[in-house]
Amino acid sequence: MSPVTDRLPVFPWDRLEPYKATATSHPDGIVDLSVGTPVDPVPAAIQRALTDAADSPGYPTVWGTVALRDAIAGWVERRLGAREAGHAQVLPVVGSKELVAALPTQLGLGPGDRVAFPRLAYPTYEVGARLARAEPVAYDEDLFADDAKLAAFDPAGLRLLWLNSPSNPTGRVMSADELRRAVAWARRHGVLLVSDECYLELGWDAEPVSVLREDVCGGSFDGLVAVHSLSKRSNLAGYRAAFLAGDAAVLGELLVIRKHSGLMTPAPVQAATVVALGDDTHVAEQRERYARRRAALRGALEAYGFRVEHSEASLYLWATRDEPCWETVGDLAGRGILVAPGDFYGPAGERFVRVAVTATDERVAAAVARLKD
Ligand SMILES: Cc1ncc(COP(=O)(O)O)c(C=O)c1O
Repeated sequence: MSPVTDRLPVFPWDRLEPYKATATSHPDGIVDLSVGTPVDPVPAAIQRALTDAADSPGYPTVWGTVALRDAIAGWVERRLGAREAGHAQVLPVVGSKELVAALPTQLGLGPGDRVAFPRLAYPTYEVGARLARAEPVAYDEDLFADDAKLAAFDPAGLRLLWLNSPSNPTGRVMSADELRRAVAWARRHGVLLVSDECYLELGWDAEPVSVLREDVCGGSFDGLVAVHSLSKRSNLAGYRAAFLAGDAAVLGELLVIRKHSGLMTPAPVQAATVVALGDDTHVAEQRERYARRRAALRGALEAYGFRVEHSEASLYLWATRDEPCWETVGDLAGRGILVAPGDFYGPAGERFVRVAVTATDERVAAAVARLKD
C-alpha cells in the first residue's frame, strides 16, 4: 500500500520556517503577515452564545439545528441576494477547509475525472482532487472573461469546477458577468460549479457577487453550490464554522455521506453561528479594522518599491518587486516581516508575495515603520 501522502504536494509552509526564524530574531519581534488568520477578539455576543450552549451532552446533527438552518437560509437570501433558500439548500460544514479537501472524494470522483481550479489558488483545491485520485486542471483567472480561452477550454471528463471570488491569493473579484458566463458554461457541459466565497464580505475596491445571486444564477440553484465560512467575517477561524448553500440534490447526497462520516459541527458552535449570521454590526466593525490596516500596509509597500496587483478584495495584498518571490521573502524577513511566497499558490506566483492584513494595529504599525527605515 503506498502512503496517501505520496499523492500530495510537499506541505509548503514548512519551507517558510527558516525565514520565520530570521523574522522572529528581530529585536522588536516578528510581524507575521504570512497566514490570513484572524487576530481580533471573537465578538462578545458570539462568545456568549457559545458559552450559553456549553452544556451540550448529546450528539449534534450533521444537518444542524432548525435554528441554524433558518439562520443560514435567511442569510443566503438577505446577504447573497438569492431568490429562495430552504433547508434542503443548506448544509453546515466543519470549517470550509475540510469540505474543500474532501469534496471530490465525497462526490465519488476518481481516476479519469478532472477537477478544475484557478491557476493561482488556495492549494486545497488541488489537494482535494489528488486525494480522490482525480486529475487537477489549472485554468487562467480570466477564463470566463475571455471568449477565445473559454472556447479552447476542454470540458471532457470535467466533473467539478471551482471558482474563488474574491480570490486567495490575488484578491481578484469576478464580475457578475463573468459569473454568469461560468454558470452558463458549467450548466451547458453538465459540470458541477462550486464557488468558494469565503471572502465575500471583504470587498474594498470592488463589490463581490455570489454565484447564487438571482441575476447570476437565473433564480435557480441547479448545478451550483456556494461555500461560505465565518472564519474571516466573524473572527471564528478557531470555532470551525462554515456552510454550503445551493443545489438541493447535491447537498442531499453530501448530507447522507457526511452523516455516515460523523462530520458534525459541535452544538455550541452551531449556536454561536446562529448569532453571528444574524448580526451585521460586528462584520462592519471588523471590515473597518481591516480597511485601515490594508491602507497602511499598501502605502508602505508601494513606497518601499512594491507594485500591488488586483487585491480589490479579501484579506491579502498581492505584491511584487519583479524579482523571485523567495528573494522578497528573504529581504522582508531580514526586516522582521514574514510574508507568503507567491509560488505557494502555483508556479504563476513565483514573482509575487502574498501579504495578509490580519495583524494587530500595533504589529501593522511596526511593519510600516520597518519598511520606512
Ligand atoms: C479560499 C479559501 N477557501 C477556504 C478557506 C478555509 O477557511 P476555513 O476552513 O477557516 O473555513 C480559506 C482559508 O484561508 C481560503 O483562503
